[in-house]
Amino acid sequence: MTVDLLLGLQWGDEGKGKIVDVLTSQYDIIARFQGGPNAGHTLEFDGIKHVLRTIPSGIFHQNNINIIGNGVVIDPVVFKSEIDGLAKFNLDLQSKLIISRKAHLILPTHRLLDAASETAKGKAKIGSTLKGIGPTYMDKTGRNGLRVGDIELADFKERYRALADKHEAMIAFYDVNIQYNLPELEKEFFEAIEDLKKLSFIDSEEYLAQAQKKGKSILCEGAQGSLLDVDFGTYPFVTSSNTTAAGACTGLGIAPNKIKEVYGIFKAYTTRVGSGPFPTEDFGAAGDMMAKTGNEFGSVTGRKRRCGWLDLVALKYAIQINGVTQLMMMKADVLSGFDTLKVCTAYNYKGEVIHHLPYNIEEENVTPIYTELRGWQADLTGMTSYDSLPLALKDYIEFIERAVGVPIKIVSVGPDRKQTIMK
Ligand code: IMP
Repeated sequence: MTVDLLLGLQWGDEGKGKIVDVLTSQYDIIARFQGGPNAGHTLEFDGIKHVLRTIPSGIFHQNNINIIGNGVVIDPVVFKSEIDGLAKFNLDLQSKLIISRKAHLILPTHRLLDAASETAKGKAKIGSTLKGIGPTYMDKTGRNGLRVGDIELADFKERYRALADKHEAMIAFYDVNIQYNLPELEKEFFEAIEDLKKLSFIDSEEYLAQAQKKGKSILCEGAQGSLLDVDFGTYPFVTSSNTTAAGACTGLGIAPNKIKEVYGIFKAYTTRVGSGPFPTEDFGAAGDMMAKTGNEFGSVTGRKRRCGWLDLVALKYAIQINGVTQLMMMKADVLSGFDTLKVCTAYNYKGEVIHHLPYNIEEENVTPIYTELRGWQADLTGMTSYDSLPLALKDYIEFIERAVGVPIKIVSVGPDRKQTIMK
Protein backbone atom coordinates (compact mmCIF):
# COMPACT_ATOMS: atom_id res chain seq x y z
CA MET A 1 0.00 0.00 0.00
CA THR A 2 1.35 3.43 -0.92
CA VAL A 3 -0.13 6.88 -0.71
CA ASP A 4 2.03 9.49 -2.39
CA LEU A 5 1.32 13.11 -3.04
CA LEU A 6 2.18 15.39 -5.90
CA LEU A 7 1.87 19.15 -5.78
CA GLY A 8 3.15 22.41 -7.26
CA LEU A 9 5.63 24.50 -5.27
CA GLN A 10 5.27 27.89 -6.97
CA TRP A 11 2.27 29.90 -8.23
CA GLY A 12 0.78 27.05 -10.27
CA ASP A 13 1.41 26.02 -13.88
CA GLU A 14 4.50 24.03 -12.89
CA GLY A 15 3.58 21.16 -15.20
CA LYS A 16 1.83 18.86 -12.72
CA GLY A 17 -0.40 17.34 -15.39
CA LYS A 18 2.59 16.08 -17.32
CA ILE A 19 4.25 14.51 -14.29
CA VAL A 20 1.07 12.85 -13.00
CA ASP A 21 0.65 11.46 -16.49
CA VAL A 22 4.24 10.16 -16.45
CA LEU A 23 3.78 8.62 -12.98
CA THR A 24 0.28 7.21 -13.36
CA SER A 25 1.26 3.80 -14.64
CA GLN A 26 2.78 3.20 -11.18
CA TYR A 27 -0.51 3.82 -9.30
CA ASP A 28 -3.91 2.12 -9.07
CA ILE A 29 -5.75 5.31 -8.14
CA ILE A 30 -5.22 9.00 -8.98
CA ALA A 31 -7.17 11.34 -6.69
CA ARG A 32 -7.62 15.11 -7.12
CA PHE A 33 -7.98 16.83 -3.75
CA GLN A 34 -8.73 20.54 -4.23
CA GLY A 35 -9.38 23.33 -6.70
CA GLY A 36 -11.69 23.09 -9.65
CA PRO A 37 -11.90 24.31 -13.23
CA ASN A 38 -9.49 27.16 -12.44
CA ALA A 39 -6.85 24.47 -13.05
CA GLY A 40 -5.63 23.48 -16.49
CA HIS A 41 -3.43 20.41 -16.46
CA THR A 42 -1.81 20.00 -19.85
CA LEU A 43 -0.87 16.52 -21.04
CA GLU A 44 1.06 15.77 -24.23
CA PHE A 45 1.61 12.31 -25.65
CA ASP A 46 1.70 10.65 -29.07
CA GLY A 47 1.41 14.06 -30.77
CA ILE A 48 -1.79 14.85 -28.85
CA LYS A 49 -2.14 17.86 -26.54
CA HIS A 50 -5.01 17.79 -24.07
CA VAL A 51 -5.95 20.09 -21.17
CA LEU A 52 -7.78 18.65 -18.15
CA ARG A 53 -9.58 20.96 -15.73
CA THR A 54 -11.34 18.93 -13.03
CA ILE A 55 -10.64 15.39 -14.16
CA PRO A 56 -7.51 13.77 -12.65
CA SER A 57 -4.52 13.41 -14.94
CA GLY A 58 -4.51 9.60 -14.84
CA ILE A 59 -7.54 9.37 -17.07
CA PHE A 60 -5.60 8.40 -20.22
CA HIS A 61 -3.93 5.38 -18.69
CA GLN A 62 -5.51 1.96 -19.08
CA ASN A 63 -5.70 0.50 -15.65
CA ASN A 64 -6.32 3.12 -13.04
CA ILE A 65 -9.27 4.70 -11.27
CA ASN A 66 -9.55 8.47 -11.13
CA ILE A 67 -11.27 10.09 -8.16
CA ILE A 68 -12.52 13.63 -7.78
CA GLY A 69 -12.28 14.15 -4.02
CA ASN A 70 -14.48 16.04 -1.57
CA GLY A 71 -12.07 18.99 -1.56
CA VAL A 72 -12.68 19.72 -5.24
CA VAL A 73 -15.36 22.11 -6.52
CA ILE A 74 -17.12 21.01 -9.70
CA ASP A 75 -18.81 23.13 -12.32
CA PRO A 76 -21.15 20.66 -14.09
CA VAL A 77 -21.11 22.80 -17.26
CA VAL A 78 -17.32 22.88 -17.55
CA PHE A 79 -17.23 19.23 -16.52
CA LYS A 80 -19.62 18.29 -19.32
CA SER A 81 -17.41 20.01 -21.88
CA GLU A 82 -14.42 18.15 -20.44
CA ILE A 83 -16.26 14.85 -20.79
CA ASP A 84 -17.32 15.75 -24.36
CA GLY A 85 -13.70 16.58 -25.17
CA LEU A 86 -12.64 13.11 -24.06
CA ALA A 87 -15.17 11.33 -26.28
CA LYS A 88 -12.66 10.88 -29.12
CA PHE A 89 -10.35 8.85 -26.86
CA ASN A 90 -12.98 6.11 -26.23
CA LEU A 91 -12.23 5.91 -22.52
CA ASP A 92 -14.52 3.91 -20.28
CA LEU A 93 -15.34 6.88 -18.04
CA GLN A 94 -18.21 5.09 -16.26
CA SER A 95 -15.74 2.73 -14.65
CA LYS A 96 -12.59 4.91 -14.62
CA LEU A 97 -13.93 8.14 -13.17
CA ILE A 98 -15.74 8.51 -9.84
CA ILE A 99 -16.81 11.53 -7.84
CA SER A 100 -17.09 12.23 -4.13
CA ARG A 101 -20.63 12.99 -2.95
CA LYS A 102 -19.07 15.60 -0.69
CA ALA A 103 -17.50 17.64 -3.51
CA HIS A 104 -19.19 21.04 -3.80
CA LEU A 105 -21.01 22.28 -6.90
CA ILE A 106 -20.22 25.54 -8.66
CA LEU A 107 -23.53 27.16 -9.60
CA PRO A 108 -23.87 29.65 -12.49
CA THR A 109 -24.46 32.35 -9.86
CA HIS A 110 -21.13 31.51 -8.21
CA ARG A 111 -19.44 32.48 -11.47
CA LEU A 112 -21.47 35.69 -11.61
CA LEU A 113 -20.57 36.49 -8.00
CA ASP A 114 -16.90 35.98 -8.85
CA ALA A 115 -17.22 38.49 -11.69
CA ALA A 116 -19.13 40.97 -9.51
CA SER A 117 -16.61 40.71 -6.69
CA GLU A 118 -13.62 41.17 -9.00
CA THR A 119 -15.24 44.12 -10.80
CA ALA A 120 -16.05 45.77 -7.48
CA LYS A 121 -12.43 45.41 -6.34
CA GLY A 122 -11.21 47.49 -9.30
CA LYS A 123 -7.43 47.85 -9.28
CA ALA A 124 -7.16 45.60 -6.20
CA LYS A 125 -8.62 42.64 -8.09
CA ILE A 126 -7.13 39.19 -7.45
CA GLY A 127 -6.91 38.34 -11.14
CA SER A 128 -9.22 35.37 -10.58
CA THR A 129 -9.88 32.93 -13.40
CA LEU A 130 -13.58 33.85 -12.81
CA LYS A 131 -14.65 30.22 -12.63
CA GLY A 132 -16.64 30.77 -9.41
CA ILE A 133 -13.98 29.18 -7.20
CA GLY A 134 -13.93 31.78 -4.40
CA PRO A 135 -17.72 32.10 -3.99
CA THR A 136 -18.15 28.30 -4.01
CA TYR A 137 -15.57 27.76 -1.27
CA MET A 138 -17.16 30.66 0.64
CA ASP A 139 -20.50 28.84 0.53
CA LYS A 140 -18.75 25.65 1.62
CA THR A 141 -17.17 27.18 4.72
CA GLY A 142 -20.27 29.32 5.29
CA ARG A 143 -22.27 26.04 5.34
CA ASN A 144 -24.58 27.07 2.53
CA GLY A 145 -23.15 25.07 -0.36
CA LEU A 146 -24.69 22.40 -2.56
CA ARG A 147 -22.79 19.13 -2.85
CA VAL A 148 -22.72 16.43 -5.50
CA GLY A 149 -24.64 14.14 -3.12
CA ASP A 150 -27.48 16.68 -3.01
CA ILE A 151 -28.20 15.94 -6.69
CA GLU A 152 -29.61 12.59 -5.49
CA LEU A 153 -32.08 14.28 -3.13
CA ALA A 154 -35.73 14.77 -4.11
CA ASP A 155 -35.63 18.48 -3.30
CA PHE A 156 -32.38 19.29 -5.15
CA LYS A 157 -34.11 21.86 -7.38
CA GLU A 158 -35.63 23.69 -4.41
CA ARG A 159 -32.27 23.76 -2.66
CA TYR A 160 -30.70 25.08 -5.84
CA ARG A 161 -33.36 27.82 -6.15
CA ALA A 162 -32.94 29.01 -2.57
CA LEU A 163 -29.18 29.39 -2.99
CA ALA A 164 -29.35 30.96 -6.46
CA ASP A 165 -31.94 33.51 -5.22
CA LYS A 166 -29.65 34.43 -2.36
CA HIS A 167 -26.78 34.86 -4.82
CA GLU A 168 -28.87 37.15 -7.02
CA ALA A 169 -29.50 39.42 -4.06
CA MET A 170 -25.77 39.44 -3.35
CA ILE A 171 -24.92 40.30 -6.96
CA ALA A 172 -27.31 43.28 -6.72
CA PHE A 173 -25.56 44.32 -3.51
CA TYR A 174 -22.25 44.69 -5.37
CA ASP A 175 -23.83 47.40 -7.50
CA VAL A 176 -21.71 46.66 -10.59
CA ASN A 177 -22.86 46.19 -14.14
CA ILE A 178 -22.86 42.42 -14.76
CA GLN A 179 -24.95 41.32 -17.73
CA TYR A 180 -26.43 37.83 -17.59
CA ASN A 181 -29.34 35.68 -18.63
CA LEU A 182 -29.92 33.41 -15.66
CA PRO A 183 -32.65 31.17 -17.16
CA GLU A 184 -30.28 30.33 -20.02
CA LEU A 185 -27.40 29.60 -17.65
CA GLU A 186 -29.69 27.46 -15.49
CA LYS A 187 -30.92 25.44 -18.48
CA GLU A 188 -27.30 24.67 -19.35
CA PHE A 189 -26.55 23.84 -15.69
CA PHE A 190 -29.41 21.35 -15.29
CA GLU A 191 -28.63 19.68 -18.62
CA ALA A 192 -25.06 19.25 -17.44
CA ILE A 193 -26.30 17.83 -14.10
CA GLU A 194 -28.06 15.06 -16.09
CA ASP A 195 -24.71 14.20 -17.70
CA LEU A 196 -22.93 14.24 -14.36
CA LYS A 197 -25.47 11.73 -13.04
CA LYS A 198 -24.22 9.15 -15.55
CA LEU A 199 -21.06 8.82 -13.46
CA SER A 200 -20.78 7.14 -10.05
CA PHE A 201 -21.08 9.26 -6.93
CA ILE A 202 -19.30 7.67 -3.99
CA ASP A 203 -18.26 8.21 -0.39
CA SER A 204 -14.69 8.65 -1.55
CA GLU A 205 -13.06 8.70 1.90
CA GLU A 206 -14.50 5.20 2.54
CA TYR A 207 -13.54 4.04 -0.96
CA LEU A 208 -9.96 5.22 -0.39
CA ALA A 209 -9.80 3.62 3.08
CA GLN A 210 -10.89 0.27 1.63
CA ALA A 211 -8.46 0.66 -1.27
CA GLN A 212 -5.62 1.18 1.20
CA LYS A 213 -6.66 -1.96 3.12
CA LYS A 214 -6.54 -3.90 -0.15
CA GLY A 215 -2.98 -2.69 -0.76
CA LYS A 216 -3.82 -0.37 -3.67
CA SER A 217 -1.44 2.47 -4.49
CA ILE A 218 -2.80 6.00 -4.54
CA LEU A 219 -1.38 9.21 -5.99
CA CYS A 220 -2.98 12.39 -4.65
CA GLU A 221 -2.93 15.12 -7.30
CA GLY A 222 -2.86 18.77 -6.32
CA ALA A 223 -3.85 21.76 -8.43
CA GLN A 224 -2.51 25.36 -8.48
CA GLY A 225 0.64 25.83 -6.38
CA SER A 226 1.77 26.25 -2.78
CA LEU A 227 2.17 30.03 -3.08
CA LEU A 228 -1.53 30.22 -3.99
CA ASP A 229 -2.57 28.38 -0.80
CA VAL A 230 -5.29 30.29 1.06
CA ASP A 231 -3.32 30.06 4.34
CA PHE A 232 0.32 29.99 3.27
CA GLY A 233 0.27 31.76 -0.09
CA THR A 234 0.60 35.44 -0.94
CA TYR A 235 -2.77 36.34 0.60
CA PRO A 236 -5.10 37.84 -0.58
CA PHE A 237 -3.68 37.10 -4.05
CA VAL A 238 -4.32 33.37 -3.70
CA THR A 239 -6.94 30.82 -4.58
CA SER A 240 -9.54 29.70 -2.03
CA SER A 241 -8.34 26.20 -1.16
CA ASN A 242 -5.39 24.58 0.61
CA THR A 243 -3.07 23.71 -2.24
CA THR A 244 -0.42 22.41 0.19
CA ALA A 245 0.02 18.86 1.54
CA ALA A 246 -2.56 19.35 4.29
CA GLY A 247 -5.17 19.84 1.55
CA ALA A 248 -4.73 16.20 0.51
CA CYS A 249 -5.80 15.07 4.00
CA THR A 250 -8.87 17.29 4.16
CA GLY A 251 -9.67 16.98 0.46
CA LEU A 252 -9.65 13.19 0.37
CA GLY A 253 -9.97 12.00 3.96
CA ILE A 254 -6.51 10.46 3.90
CA ALA A 255 -4.71 10.46 7.25
CA PRO A 256 -1.39 12.38 7.35
CA ASN A 257 0.59 9.38 8.60
CA LYS A 258 -0.41 7.40 5.50
CA ILE A 259 1.37 9.74 3.08
CA LYS A 260 4.82 8.55 2.06
CA GLU A 261 6.48 10.39 -0.80
CA VAL A 262 5.70 14.05 -1.38
CA TYR A 263 6.68 14.98 -4.92
CA GLY A 264 7.25 18.71 -5.31
CA ILE A 265 7.10 20.12 -8.83
CA PHE A 266 8.75 23.38 -9.75
CA LYS A 267 9.76 25.17 -12.92
CA ALA A 268 13.45 25.92 -13.55
CA TYR A 269 12.34 29.58 -13.46
CA THR A 270 9.20 31.19 -11.99
CA THR A 271 5.86 32.27 -13.43
CA ARG A 272 2.73 33.79 -12.05
CA VAL A 273 -0.63 34.58 -13.65
CA GLY A 274 -2.94 37.16 -12.10
CA SER A 275 -2.13 39.86 -9.57
CA GLY A 276 0.07 39.77 -6.48
CA PRO A 277 3.68 40.05 -5.39
CA PHE A 278 6.43 38.28 -7.34
CA PRO A 279 9.87 39.40 -6.10
CA THR A 280 11.95 37.79 -8.89
CA GLU A 281 9.74 38.93 -11.77
CA ASP A 282 11.84 40.07 -14.74
CA PHE A 283 10.35 42.92 -16.77
CA GLY A 284 13.12 42.91 -19.39
CA ALA A 285 14.41 40.72 -22.19
CA ALA A 286 15.01 37.69 -19.95
CA GLY A 287 11.38 37.57 -18.78
CA ASP A 288 10.19 38.02 -22.38
CA MET A 289 12.43 35.21 -23.55
CA MET A 290 11.10 32.84 -20.86
CA ALA A 291 7.51 33.75 -21.79
CA LYS A 292 8.16 33.21 -25.50
CA THR A 293 10.24 30.03 -25.34
CA GLY A 294 8.14 28.58 -22.52
CA ASN A 295 4.87 29.50 -24.25
CA GLU A 296 3.76 31.04 -20.99
CA PHE A 297 0.10 31.67 -21.66
CA GLY A 298 -2.60 30.37 -19.28
CA SER A 299 -4.20 27.10 -20.38
CA VAL A 300 -7.54 28.20 -18.83
CA THR A 301 -7.72 31.93 -19.50
CA GLY A 302 -5.09 32.42 -22.24
CA ARG A 303 -3.56 35.25 -20.18
CA LYS A 304 0.16 35.93 -20.57
CA ARG A 305 2.02 34.70 -17.51
CA ARG A 306 4.46 36.94 -15.68
CA CYS A 307 7.97 35.42 -15.77
CA GLY A 308 11.13 35.69 -13.70
CA TRP A 309 14.05 33.93 -12.08
CA LEU A 310 14.00 30.97 -9.75
CA ASP A 311 13.31 32.05 -6.17
CA LEU A 312 14.98 29.65 -3.73
CA VAL A 313 13.65 31.49 -0.68
CA ALA A 314 10.08 30.80 -1.81
CA LEU A 315 10.96 27.28 -2.98
CA LYS A 316 12.48 26.36 0.39
CA TYR A 317 9.37 27.70 2.13
CA ALA A 318 7.11 25.54 -0.03
CA ILE A 319 9.31 22.47 0.51
CA GLN A 320 9.12 23.01 4.26
CA ILE A 321 5.33 23.52 4.42
CA ASN A 322 4.72 20.41 2.32
CA GLY A 323 7.41 18.09 3.65
CA VAL A 324 8.66 17.48 0.11
CA THR A 325 10.80 14.34 -0.24
CA GLN A 326 11.61 14.50 -3.98
CA LEU A 327 11.77 17.36 -6.43
CA MET A 328 10.91 17.44 -10.09
CA MET A 329 12.25 20.29 -12.18
CA MET A 330 10.17 21.24 -15.19
CA LYS A 331 10.92 23.23 -18.35
CA ALA A 332 14.72 23.15 -18.01
CA ASP A 333 14.79 23.39 -21.85
CA VAL A 334 13.31 26.92 -21.68
CA LEU A 335 16.49 28.23 -20.01
CA SER A 336 18.76 27.17 -22.92
CA GLY A 337 20.38 30.20 -24.55
CA PHE A 338 21.04 32.39 -21.50
CA ASP A 339 24.71 33.30 -20.89
CA THR A 340 24.09 33.60 -17.15
CA LEU A 341 21.20 32.60 -14.95
CA LYS A 342 20.12 34.43 -11.83
CA VAL A 343 18.89 32.54 -8.77
CA CYS A 344 17.43 34.35 -5.76
CA THR A 345 19.06 33.01 -2.59
CA ALA A 346 17.97 35.61 -0.03
CA TYR A 347 15.81 38.71 0.34
CA ASN A 348 16.69 42.16 1.46
CA TYR A 349 13.68 42.74 3.71
CA LYS A 350 13.28 46.29 4.96
CA GLY A 351 17.11 46.66 5.00
CA GLU A 352 17.86 43.27 6.56
CA VAL A 353 19.11 40.12 4.75
CA ILE A 354 16.71 37.24 5.41
CA HIS A 355 16.42 33.66 4.13
CA HIS A 356 12.77 32.94 4.83
CA LEU A 357 9.50 34.12 3.33
CA PRO A 358 8.22 36.99 5.49
CA TYR A 359 4.58 38.04 6.07
CA ASN A 360 4.74 40.63 3.37
CA ILE A 361 6.70 40.19 0.12
CA GLU A 362 5.41 43.22 -1.76
CA GLU A 363 7.96 45.09 -3.87
CA GLU A 364 8.31 47.93 -1.36
CA ASN A 365 9.41 45.47 1.37
CA VAL A 366 11.46 42.87 -0.47
CA THR A 367 14.37 43.04 -2.91
CA PRO A 368 15.77 39.72 -4.12
CA ILE A 369 19.47 38.97 -3.66
CA TYR A 370 20.79 36.96 -6.58
CA THR A 371 23.60 34.51 -7.22
CA GLU A 372 24.63 34.30 -10.88
CA LEU A 373 25.31 30.91 -12.44
CA ARG A 374 26.64 29.92 -15.83
CA GLY A 375 24.00 29.25 -18.49
CA TRP A 376 24.03 26.67 -21.29
CA GLN A 377 23.34 26.94 -25.01
CA ALA A 378 22.48 23.37 -26.05
CA ASP A 379 18.94 22.43 -27.06
CA LEU A 380 17.80 19.91 -24.42
CA THR A 381 14.58 18.77 -26.03
CA GLY A 382 16.04 15.69 -27.66
CA MET A 383 18.18 14.61 -24.70
CA THR A 384 17.21 11.39 -22.99
CA SER A 385 19.74 10.74 -20.22
CA TYR A 386 21.07 12.70 -17.28
CA ASP A 387 24.63 12.12 -18.41
CA SER A 388 24.02 13.86 -21.73
CA LEU A 389 22.85 17.13 -20.09
CA PRO A 390 25.21 20.16 -20.30
CA LEU A 391 27.57 20.58 -17.37
CA ALA A 392 26.18 24.05 -16.58
CA LEU A 393 22.69 22.55 -16.19
CA LYS A 394 24.03 19.87 -13.87
CA ASP A 395 25.71 22.65 -11.84
CA TYR A 396 22.37 24.53 -11.75
CA ILE A 397 20.61 21.39 -10.49
CA GLU A 398 23.24 20.68 -7.84
CA PHE A 399 23.18 24.30 -6.69
CA ILE A 400 19.43 24.04 -6.08
CA GLU A 401 19.74 20.67 -4.34
CA ARG A 402 22.39 22.00 -1.98
CA ALA A 403 20.35 25.11 -1.20
CA VAL A 404 17.08 23.29 -0.44
CA GLY A 405 18.40 19.96 0.86
CA VAL A 406 16.07 17.78 -1.25
CA PRO A 407 17.09 15.75 -4.33
CA ILE A 408 15.83 16.55 -7.83
CA LYS A 409 14.74 13.18 -9.23
CA ILE A 410 13.20 14.20 -12.53
CA VAL A 411 14.27 16.85 -15.03
CA SER A 412 11.75 17.67 -17.73
CA VAL A 413 13.12 18.88 -21.07
CA GLY A 414 9.93 19.26 -23.09
CA PRO A 415 6.16 18.85 -22.91
CA ASP A 416 5.93 15.27 -24.17
CA ARG A 417 5.83 12.27 -21.81
CA LYS A 418 9.00 11.04 -23.49
CA GLN A 419 10.93 14.25 -22.73
CA THR A 420 11.41 13.26 -19.09
CA ILE A 421 14.84 12.47 -17.67
CA MET A 422 15.10 10.38 -14.50
CA LYS A 423 18.09 11.22 -12.35
P1 IMP B 1 -9.18 31.75 -8.68
O1 IMP B 1 -8.76 30.53 -7.95
O2 IMP B 1 -9.69 31.45 -10.06
O3 IMP B 1 -10.12 32.62 -7.92
O4 IMP B 1 -7.87 32.65 -8.91
C1 IMP B 1 -7.13 33.19 -7.82
C2 IMP B 1 -5.68 33.41 -8.21
O5 IMP B 1 -5.07 32.14 -8.44
C3 IMP B 1 -5.49 34.18 -9.51
O6 IMP B 1 -4.28 34.92 -9.42
C4 IMP B 1 -5.33 33.10 -10.57
O7 IMP B 1 -4.60 33.54 -11.69
C5 IMP B 1 -4.57 32.06 -9.77
N1 IMP B 1 -4.83 30.69 -10.24
C6 IMP B 1 -5.94 29.95 -10.04
N2 IMP B 1 -5.81 28.74 -10.60
C7 IMP B 1 -4.60 28.71 -11.15
C8 IMP B 1 -3.88 27.70 -11.86
O8 IMP B 1 -4.33 26.57 -12.06
N3 IMP B 1 -2.63 28.04 -12.29
C9 IMP B 1 -2.08 29.26 -12.03
N4 IMP B 1 -2.71 30.23 -11.36
C10 IMP B 1 -3.97 29.95 -10.92
